[in-house]
Amino acid sequence: MKILFLDQSGKPGGAELCLIDIAKPYRDSCLVGLFADGPFRELLEQQDIPVEVLTTESIQVRKESSLMQGLSSMGSLLPLIAKVAQKARDYDLIYANTQKALVVGALASFLSRRPLVYHLHDILSLDHFSRTNRAIAVTLANTQASLVIANSQASQAAFVEAGGRSPLTAVVYNGFNPDFYRADESQRKTLRQQLGLDGQFIVGHFSRLSPWKGQHILIEALTQCPEDVTAIFVGEALFGEQDYAQSLHQQVAELGIEKRIRFLGFRSDIVQLMSACDLVAHTSVAPEPFGRVVVEAMLCGCPVVAAKAGGVVELVEHEQTGWLIPPGDSALLADVITNCRQQPEARTIVAHQARDTASQRFHLNTINQQIVQLLKPLILPKAN
Ligand code: UDP
Ligand code: GLC
Repeated sequence: MKILFLDQSGKPGGAELCLIDIAKPYRDSCLVGLFADGPFRELLEQQDIPVEVLTTESIQVRKESSLMQGLSSMGSLLPLIAKVAQKARDYDLIYANTQKALVVGALASFLSRRPLVYHLHDILSLDHFSRTNRAIAVTLANTQASLVIANSQASQAAFVEAGGRSPLTAVVYNGFNPDFYRADESQRKTLRQQLGLDGQFIVGHFSRLSPWKGQHILIEALTQCPEDVTAIFVGEALFGEQDYAQSLHQQVAELGIEKRIRFLGFRSDIVQLMSACDLVAHTSVAPEPFGRVVVEAMLCGCPVVAAKAGGVVELVEHEQTGWLIPPGDSALLADVITNCRQQPEARTIVAHQARDTASQRFHLNTINQQIVQLLKPLILPKAN
């Protein structure tokens, strides 16, 4: 099966990390076309996945853009659409992994007569998108896509609620290789010492710094926890949210808790870092479409407390495989952290159950099989 994958980003967000796992089985015959250069290209190259940066022009339209802004950027998209349509003739199908990839992919699909698959990684709600962008995504998907793969039931439901055609959709969760998430026990102590946090109760937060990811909620909660509770923030502002990053540093300074917080920036050693934590907190204040970090924590054997909204409720069973709290509730978050600190046995039981469940439900082999089964019928009889 020859697939032309499209993704707008040069940076490795969750949708891009998911795409690496999806594209890998097809690396002998696929191409990943990017609309921007960056570290994501390098990650694909490290995995021997063919990749090409298809444009160096930055695409101005943003998630919250209006119709006029969208239309005025169409002119600059035309050369890219023509290029993708031309390339698509050498492939069996076009697989759009992001919203701008859907716009380009839909028109290229029409021109090249290749089927289009849209992998929907977003909840198409007004929390995240302007009405215009949502309408464009739904209309293009409804009219051009042969299949919409939603990363959770929550993303699927929001698509249908926004006018998307339900029969087009299938829910496929992100897949993970459980073996990859096993850290060496000895590394845990070393890393905790390197962080200068040995002997502390470490709560980890693993997300790009962005207002809707809610890092400020964990900082707020920390002031209501015992003194030996500390937090590490792993991730950086990937998509221009520098002001928020700045405001977090300010919040920490105003609260006078600098000694209890570490900002580690973007890191590639997620498994080691998660394994060094006593608890992972997920604090998104808008519904999380899926939440890779939640599953990763479960696989690392680190208990997780997560915001009860969006796809996360499909990942965690409250008090069985983690804890769920209402989004934005820092007082309840502080309670869960404090209880976890006081009850190591309960924490271990939940962490073990979470690891077992996640290893089965989100196993990469099963997920990739689901995708093959969904794609196969789309390319038969073979396109010409
Ligand atoms: N991540 C990473 N390094 C960092 C912070 C995050 O590799 O410093 C990874 C994290 O392990 C996860 C992904 O980025 O796989 C984020 O995906 P998620 O679905 O949690 O959120 P998104 O940012 O895509 O909304
Ligand atoms: C998006 C979503 C995130 C999801 C990821 C992978 O980046 O924001 O919730 O986990 O895609 O599907």
